Amino acid sequence: MSEVPSLSAGGSPGAVPGSGEPVIDVRNLVKRFGDKTVVDHVTMRVAKGEISGFLGPNGSGKTTTIRCMCGLLRADGGEGRVLGHDIRTEAWKIKRETGYMTQRFSFYEDLSIRENLQFVARLYGLQPAAVTETLADLGLTSRQNQLAGTLSGGWKQRLALAACIMHKPQLLLLDEPTAGVDPKARRDFWDEIHHLAADGLTVLVSTHYMDEAERCHRINYISYGKLVASGTVAEVLASAGLTTWILEGANLGAIARELAGMPGVDQIAPFGVTLHVVGRDAAALERSVRQMAKSHGVTAEKGETSLEDVFIQFMAESTDNMGNGNMANGSPAGGGA
Ligand SMILES: Nc1ncnc2c1ncn2[C@@H]1O[C@H](COP(=O)(O)OP(=O)(O)OP(=O)(O)O)[C@@H](O)[C@H]1O
Ligand SMILES: [Mg+2]
Repeated sequence: MSEVPSLSAGGSPGAVPGSGEPVIDVRNLVKRFGDKTVVDHVTMRVAKGEISGFLGPNGSGKTTTIRCMCGLLRADGGEGRVLGHDIRTEAWKIKRETGYMTQRFSFYEDLSIRENLQFVARLYGLQPAAVTETLADLGLTSRQNQLAGTLSGGWKQRLALAACIMHKPQLLLLDEPTAGVDPKARRDFWDEIHHLAADGLTVLVSTHYMDEAERCHRINYISYGKLVASGTVAEVLASAGLTTWILEGANLGAIARELAGMPGVDQIAPFGVTLHVVGRDAAALERSVRQMAKSHGVTAEKGETSLEDVFIQFMAESTDNMGNGNMANGSPAGGGA
């Protein structure tokens, strides 16, 4: 079963007081496990109706931050409001008005879709009609009698979404909701998220997929517990200040080896028959790239910097800043991210 915050009967959604007030407004959130600071002074705002992406390497603190925001974990420091409620003293109110799709959600596999939703509906004290309505809203009616254990990944995701929106929350926290789901099912899922947001639901969604990051109104990037970038995709791309060159021709493997360590070269990545070379020092990078292109007789053209390039750069910079001995999480940046 999807991990459901404890609820009081009724689960009536509350309005955000004052128009324009952010739904999530937390400042300097800190969470420690033992002597490890896994959320390190995170300040984040998410406006009503916004889809805000939460990105960062494995172990960077996304899930922990989400759990602090919805009142499932008590932060060790910081303050703020979620849905207008104080995260330190009114966690129960936040839980009542929030839908939380956990990173590793599960169902009763030997119950049908409808039976799983009926179970959740009873937890929330909802009327049986809520199940029928949710089944219809999410296109699950025709499969309502199928056992949850026999569903494919995409349908399981849809059932999980149904389970966490059935009580009509004001805020949806989605923790890697589409991991391992095929592109069509992910696209359908995101269409649904946009429909919900258009109706006023606010969404904070963690993901490792770049295409999903691009479907968010804003993104937040966290590394070793610290928020290192926040803004629209265009703003985050621009603020990274990276330049990208694309080389095409023969011997790209040898060129990549030679380029490594040359002035201005921060990243080298083969993409099919091309080589993407990325750096912060535009002038030095151009000199290195042109020199290599000339000596190997390949073409070099300026390309678009991608969000992935930016995030790889963030990871490298964070690793440099933290040093191996000082890492907040004790795991390498990007390990399996
Ligand atoms: N209950 C806990 N007790 C001790 N350490 C924990 C606990 N929960 C998380 N951690 C540690 O906190 C750090 C942040 O974990 P968290 O799950 O928040 O990262 P994440 O960004 O969600 O990672 P992923 O992308 O892999 O889901 C990790 O080093 C993790 O091992
Ligand atoms: Mg996580």
